[in-house]
Amino acid sequence: MTEQPCILIAGAAGQVGVELQRSFAGFGKIVAVDLETVDLANADQTRALVRRVSPTLSSRCRLHSRRSRRVPARPGHAINATAPRILAEEALRLDALLVHYSTDYVSTAKAAALVETDEPGPLNVYGESKLAGEQAIQQVGGRFLIFRTSWVYGPHGNNFLLTMLRLARERDRLSIVDDQFGSPTTSIELARATRAVTEGVLGGQFGTPQEWSGLYHMTCADSTTWFGFAKAIFAGRKSVSS
Ligand SMILES: NC(=O)c1ccc[n+]([C@@H]2O[C@H](COP(=O)([O-])OP(=O)(O)OC[C@H]3O[C@@H](n4cnc5c(N)ncnc54)[C@H](OP(=O)(O)O)[C@@H]3O)[C@@H](O)[C@H]2O)c1
Repeated sequence: MTEQPCILIAGAAGQVGVELQRSFAGFGKIVAVDLETVDLANADQTRALVRRVSPTLSSRCRLHSRRSRRVPARPGHAINATAPRILAEEALRLDALLVHYSTDYVSTAKAAALVETDEPGPLNVYGESKLAGEQAIQQVGGRFLIFRTSWVYGPHGNNFLLTMLRLARERDRLSIVDDQFGSPTTSIELARATRAVTEGVLGGQFGTPQEWSGLYHMTCADSTTWFGFAKAIFAGRKSVSS
């Protein structure tokens, strides 16, 4: 009998972590951990966790949020840059697959859609630390998938959709910026696509790890502005101005 995969999900209480637990149901044994169980900013704790769980598949959803852009030091560095290196090293040791999420904040905005081969140009401290995390995983190597995503929203956690719905209960009129473009991506679709790709790579559909290990953009289709996103959320129910 083949042993079932063990999936370690860090940042499990976050919006993507919750959906990953749903989407990977039935795929294997899930070990879901959050800040209460392990502080990913603590290298020893992170190593000890991976060694204890010994996963075949590890998914990391923790971020240090974009709120950090106003902080001059590098508060998110331990979580966004150092933790991915440690997880990649541990994954390599176990020959496990590491799935890691990054962000469009690692890229300079441009008129056309962002592609994986664009030169990175982090937009802020958050983008710098997430780029360092991507590079650390790539340097360590092994079996890994880095998914850059954007504007994640869904039924849980802090996100634009839930913020708009809350503000709509508190205010008659909302004013939203109309000059930044992005691809809103539901946490549900992100988790579903993550499972589909993971099943594909583990099932040998995409060739060898040397062929599929790498960095990919993973978002829902199309793009809009925050204003366009807000208009879609309210669809005629609320007065929204840019
Ligand atoms: N949200 C977006 O729009 C967006 C866009 C692009 C990329 N991403 C990437 O997608 C991934 C998932 O994002 P998300 O929106 O699901 O994040 P999230 O909702 O903020 O979830 C992060 C989770 O990690 C936990 N956590 C915080 N500090 C930790 C620590 N030191 N050690 C261990 N766990 C800790 C948090 O717990 P607490 O709640 O207790 O802090 C929370 O449960 C991230 O890697 C992020 O960079 C997100």
